[in-house]
Amino acid sequence: MNYNFAERVSQMESSVIREILKVTERPEVISFAGGLPAPELFPIKEIKEAFCEVLEGDDPSALQYSTTEGYLPLRGYIAARMREKGVEAGPDNILITNGSQQALDLLAKLFVDPGDVVLVEKPSYLGAIQTFRSYQAGFCPVPTDDQGIDIDALELAIKKQNPKMIYLTPTFKNPTGVTMSLERRRAAADLLGKYGVPLIEDDPYGDLRYSGEPLPPVKSFDDAGRVIYLSTFSKTIAPGLRLGWIVAGRELIRKLVLAKQGTDLHTGTLVQRAVYRYLEKTDVSGHVLAIRREYGRRRDIMLEEMRQNFPEGISWTRPDGGMFLWVTMPEHIDTIQLLERAVEENVAYVPGAPFYTDREGLNTMRLNFSNSTPHQIKSGIRRLARLFASCLH
Ligand SMILES: Cc1ncc(COP(=O)(O)O)c(C=O)c1O
Repeated sequence: MNYNFAERVSQMESSVIREILKVTERPEVISFAGGLPAPELFPIKEIKEAFCEVLEGDDPSALQYSTTEGYLPLRGYIAARMREKGVEAGPDNILITNGSQQALDLLAKLFVDPGDVVLVEKPSYLGAIQTFRSYQAGFCPVPTDDQGIDIDALELAIKKQNPKMIYLTPTFKNPTGVTMSLERRRAAADLLGKYGVPLIEDDPYGDLRYSGEPLPPVKSFDDAGRVIYLSTFSKTIAPGLRLGWIVAGRELIRKLVLAKQGTDLHTGTLVQRAVYRYLEKTDVSGHVLAIRREYGRRRDIMLEEMRQNFPEGISWTRPDGGMFLWVTMPEHIDTIQLLERAVEENVAYVPGAPFYTDREGLNTMRLNFSNSTPHQIKSGIRRLARLFASCLH
């Protein structure tokens, strides 16, 4: 059947890389490709108890339709956590979403008309690029370095492009692991006040820090009320819960509520109540600390193995947190072509090019360190090192 799809569907491409990566489901393949947390750290027992306790209360409202804004006690809990991070927020400033991915979709639905420009970091989170693209956004990629986005280039791009919004992942960015410096956070917030542009601050990884000092979110410097902050329980509890949130001014929250009503009415009542119960009765900071210790260990093992085994001419980032690091190969190496050979060697990564909106980054790749055991990390990095050595000499 030939469907007469809407024009925007032409922007939704399936990717060659996804096809190659399908084979990573084979148990012999060590995959650094996915963005998955370590499943052995999911608090299954505690989550199971929380669901049971909510249902044992025999309160049918746990299974009833509920408000689009989200479960009020959960919004209160999140608002209190945001205040600890220096962000002034009450429950009315919070909208519960089906993960931050839905938040990105709702924001694009509200802000992006076909052809509108979104400023993104170079490179940027693929899931955000795909969502904005599905609303027919145009992109202006802004250069970044090891301190985050280049502020002068950002200001120039705002002046030249008149963007509808800016999208940043300031902390332990997916895909590079880089964190924006304190000075640049302040400077970015100042620019928003000066030019009146909204900024989406996507912060799924902020609580996963393994070294260095915590930094306040850009939103904490947001005197002009322009920053829309997103986060999620996907990385600190479990992604299958599909529970995230938006922090914004009340007026914008009201518009987002309208957008969400058309999408799914509300986020699951039972899951919100169970997660709230879990948060209330568990030592959540102890749980997050255990994740940080383990991921920090895995990051260190990966970095050390790379230092010992990768041939000269290759460079990589050394993130203070999150789940990824970023490898840059010599200019002539095409990491999409190389992926087929890597998969033959039973090791996988994600090529960097899809994280760019302007066909750059062909010689880059993203490696995930949270979802492989230390033993797998050692073997996988050695397999990659052998492959790299064979194509560089
Ligand atoms: C930067 C970034 N934003 C958003 C998401 C989506 O997260 P969620 O599971 O909350 O939808 C991810 C997931 O990997 C991410 O890396």
